[in-house]
Amino acid sequence: MLLPINQYGDRVLREVCAPVTDTTGLETLAQDMLETMYAAHGIGLAAPQIGRSIRMVVINVCPPDDEDAAEDGEELCTVNGEERPVRSIMPLIFINPEIEPYGKNELFTEGCLSVHNVRANVIRPDRVRAKLPQLDGSVLELDCGGLLARCLQHECDHLDGHLFVDRVSSAARITLKKKLQRLCDRRR
Ligand code: NI
Repeated sequence: MLLPINQYGDRVLREVCAPVTDTTGLETLAQDMLETMYAAHGIGLAAPQIGRSIRMVVINVCPPDDEDAAEDGEELCTVNGEERPVRSIMPLIFINPEIEPYGKNELFTEGCLSVHNVRANVIRPDRVRAKLPQLDGSVLELDCGGLLARCLQHECDHLDGHLFVDRVSSAARITLKKKLQRLCDRRR
C-alpha cells in the first residue's frame, strides 16, 4: 500500500521519534514503506516521513529497476564480521539503530523525499559502524562506506527530527532559505 509522504513544514518531521518496543504490525508497515519509497524513486525512508514517530527505517541503495545503482550494490561492506556485497543485504529494514559515523569528511549532494525538489551538498563522515536491530529480534552489525554510509546517516537523522537541509553550510543555507519558505507556504 502506498503511504502519503510528509513534507517539509510538517511537524512530525521535527519530532524525536520513540524507540520501538512492540514490533506488532511493523513487518506490514515496512513493506508499505518500501513500496512507497520505490514508487517515489528514493533509496531510504524513515517512519516519521510517513507520519509514524517511531525509530524505524527502510533502505535500498540498489533498488529494483535502477540500473545505475548496480554499481553501488557491488561495493563491499562487513556484516556481522563477514565481508559481503552491499546488494546482498538490501533491502534493509531496522528499528532502534545505533550508528557511529567515522572516517574522513566528504561532500555529497543529498535530496530527500520530504523536501521536494531541493538538493544540497552536505558534509558527513564517509564511513559508518552500525548496530541495526531487525524486526525478528536479531541484530545486524554493519561496517560500510559509500552510498550506504551516507544513506544511513541521513535516515537516522530523521529519527531525531533532523533534515539534511539543517546540515548545509551557512552560505548554502541562504540560497536554500527561499526555496524552503516556498515549500512551507505551499503547505498552508
Ligand atoms: Ni530524507
